[in-house]
Amino acid sequence: MARRRVPNFCFEYVEGGSEDEATLRRNREVFSNIAFQPRTLVDVTVRNQRRRLLGEEIASPFLIGPTGFSGLLSSEGDVSMARAAASAGIPFVLSNVSTTSLEDVVRRAGADARVWMQVYMYRTREFVEKIARRAQDAGIGTLVLTTDSAIYGKREWDVRNFSGPLSLNWRNKIDVIRHPRWIFDILFPHGFPHFANVGDLLPPGQTSVRGAASSMIGQSLDPSLCWRDVEWLRDIWPGKLVIKGVMNAQDAVRAISVGADGIVLSNHGGRQLDGALSTMDVLPEVVAEVQGRLAVMLDGGFRRGSDIVKAVALGADAVLVGRATTYGLAAGGQAGAGRAIEILRSEIDRVLGLMGCPDLSQVDQSYLRAI
Ligand code: FNR
Repeated sequence: MARRRVPNFCFEYVEGGSEDEATLRRNREVFSNIAFQPRTLVDVTVRNQRRRLLGEEIASPFLIGPTGFSGLLSSEGDVSMARAAASAGIPFVLSNVSTTSLEDVVRRAGADARVWMQVYMYRTREFVEKIARRAQDAGIGTLVLTTDSAIYGKREWDVRNFSGPLSLNWRNKIDVIRHPRWIFDILFPHGFPHFANVGDLLPPGQTSVRGAASSMIGQSLDPSLCWRDVEWLRDIWPGKLVIKGVMNAQDAVRAISVGADGIVLSNHGGRQLDGALSTMDVLPEVVAEVQGRLAVMLDGGFRRGSDIVKAVALGADAVLVGRATTYGLAAGGQAGAGRAIEILRSEIDRVLGLMGCPDLSQVDQSYLRAI
């Protein structure tokens, strides 16, 4: 549905990966190399997928990960995501390059919402500090620092869709006209969405995602980002700190020593280093090394409840979903994102029953076989 509802350039921005998309494919293929070995004759009348993550209870073992530019897909993008997550009892991670400000998302998402804030590291540290302070003032308890993106991946779909710096080529201009609903729901009432959290980095009046703003933000990201900066962030941020973009057990251990509360194993959904391993490839070695000293989350390619159960069986505390809920949002706004969550939730429930292990916390490697 998402593919039909939004213009090509929006859909391809979401769906695509970098270069040959080898990592994007691997993120999916890896799940077919792991099979379930179920138990039988177990009473599965009552099934439970609730768990604890960073001291809080979550209704399902996944959360909505950060995806930027949601306003291109649905007029109320970020707020709709936050509300869909809240009604499902799971947290929502707001992207740093969201098209609604963090204050508005927190205010409009409702009292039940648990919003985490994702940040990038900018050359101007005061700016990062300001975002952290704004997040704290808004009542956000968890900051997620994404560490895999200071150098931007080569995403050839995006390169092809634009003829100049963020100016659509003719094929795409014509395609936009073929999506009147998108024009009337998004473009006419709101214009091209704006960067809502990072305005300070941009000249006044030039915050549209269609202008030069994207490249300016890209240039503001700091490629010198290293562990010292994480220590700095740890010092100024009193809440929970999660590092997103870890792919290596040694880095996971380092994350413990700088005082991180959690990590997200991530290859950015196959959008950054093409040819990188899948996070499922590295999960077992990370879990073995970390030994429960911080929360281990992961993302990339999770499209079915069974994928999530496999990750939990290998020791993950929770999974982040990116495209699954983003497709839902593009297809049907808040109801669509909610539907995507519900599909995953009900699939997890069914897998627990079929596997003969009704409590997710009891699922371990003994239910899996590498094939
Ligand atoms: C992303 N991702 C991302 N990550 C992040 O830290 N900040 C961001 O702003 C974005 N933006 C973004 C936009 C879109 C359209 C996608 C698809 C992804 C990466 C995201 O958080 C996550 O790591 C991956 O999406 C996980 O892979 P799946 O679930 O999409 O396969």
